[in-house]
Amino acid sequence: MENRENFKSRIGFIMTSAGCAIGLGNVWRFPFITGQYGGAAFVLFYLLFLVLLGAPIMIMEFAVGRASGKSAVRSFHQLEPKGSKWHIFGYFAAAGNYLLMMFYTTVAGWMFSYIFKSARGTFTGLNAEQIGGVFNTMLANPAEQLFWMALVIIIGFLICLGGLKNGVEKASTIIMTSLLFLMLVLVVRAVTLPGAGKGLAFYLKPDFSKMAQNGWGEVIFAAMGQSFFTLSLGIGALAIFGSYIGKEKALTGEALHIITLDTFVALMAGFIIFPACFAFGVNPGQGPGLIFITLPNIFNSMFLGRLWGTLFFVFMSFAALSTVIAVFENIIAFAMDRNGWSRKKAVIVNIILILLLSIPCTLGFNVWSGFVVPKLGNIQDIEDFIVSNNLLPLGSLLYLIFCTSRYGWGFDNFIEEANTGSGIKFPRILKFYVSCILPMIVLVIWAVGYLQKFILK
Ligand code: PHE
Repeated sequence: MENRENFKSRIGFIMTSAGCAIGLGNVWRFPFITGQYGGAAFVLFYLLFLVLLGAPIMIMEFAVGRASGKSAVRSFHQLEPKGSKWHIFGYFAAAGNYLLMMFYTTVAGWMFSYIFKSARGTFTGLNAEQIGGVFNTMLANPAEQLFWMALVIIIGFLICLGGLKNGVEKASTIIMTSLLFLMLVLVVRAVTLPGAGKGLAFYLKPDFSKMAQNGWGEVIFAAMGQSFFTLSLGIGALAIFGSYIGKEKALTGEALHIITLDTFVALMAGFIIFPACFAFGVNPGQGPGLIFITLPNIFNSMFLGRLWGTLFFVFMSFAALSTVIAVFENIIAFAMDRNGWSRKKAVIVNIILILLLSIPCTLGFNVWSGFVVPKLGNIQDIEDFIVSNNLLPLGSLLYLIFCTSRYGWGFDNFIEEANTGSGIKFPRILKFYVSCILPMIVLVIWAVGYLQKFILK
């Protein structure tokens, strides 16, 4: 693409990448998976994986994006040794972006609908059980969910139609700043609730015996999936933003900024949710509904709670939207890079495609709720499992091997790209670690996780 756009500013790049990373993964998925896998011990592994696995892989994705100047579908063509087949992986990455959106848009739709529910005062005066009832009534109603899901998709694509600088970059920067501020206020309220202490202990004091109950292998597998999910790694989602930046800054420092922001938001979400669960008697292990059932209780207990609640869901919807926009940007770039389409054509075709593909997840909660796979769950659980526990870790593994093996792009090319520019450099001394140890870690956790989840249990 000759006239490819670039970001206006460095902060725009960081905020857009952070906007892609920070989303439902932090505020919806992190608390509910942490709740399901027993709290603090899970959090420990999650944090460990962010540093050990997440950081190097994010740097690699950015490097591949920046060196190739292409989206995930075309970047491998550009960098692979002649005659090799790495580019086939580009199509898996593309599939990963679509699959992610197939359930993400439904949950983003829930967030949007909660803006209106909060503003209208639907939760005012309800107890914890009745608040749970509101959520379940929504799940049972396909039309309501389809409406909000379609709205998310249409808004997301319209912003992408505006292009990179005026659409994606501007929206992400404003949204991220507001969300950070609002979450701080909510943390203060949640940790001062009567009974918050038990929640804090659940969240912060590791109980390894609980971990053994869940099965070590499965907990660690889930923690790895969550760390890839939250950082948006493994399907080239971030690589694309590397393709829009210049060579002024080395990539390690940029990745660390994004990881810090992302982790901060996830940890804060935990500080809001778990004290509240214990204060209001909500079971932290109950799955995807967790934040929708817990949060309205906090707002009910706050002065001007309806306003805070509405604002929270506004910014959270925007955070989800900034991820949706980032992934749509990828999906559009695939079509533009591969087929030479205009931005407009790519947008129109993909609006229709994503609308259709998102329907099964929504119907999985009502009309098709009979469709359940043992040990996984309903359609959303299945789609989430395919993405988070398979495509993301295995895709990350491929980026790792591509960037370190001489049969791929190779470590020397990678490190030269990563270290071009000013700022923190990727230490060459980590070569053995990233080329031999890291791929083994990912592979072993993936294999043991499968064994424990499907065979031993
Ligand atoms: N990181 C995003 C979130 O936390 C989800 C995501 C995963 C986005 C993978 C792109 C790729 O919501």
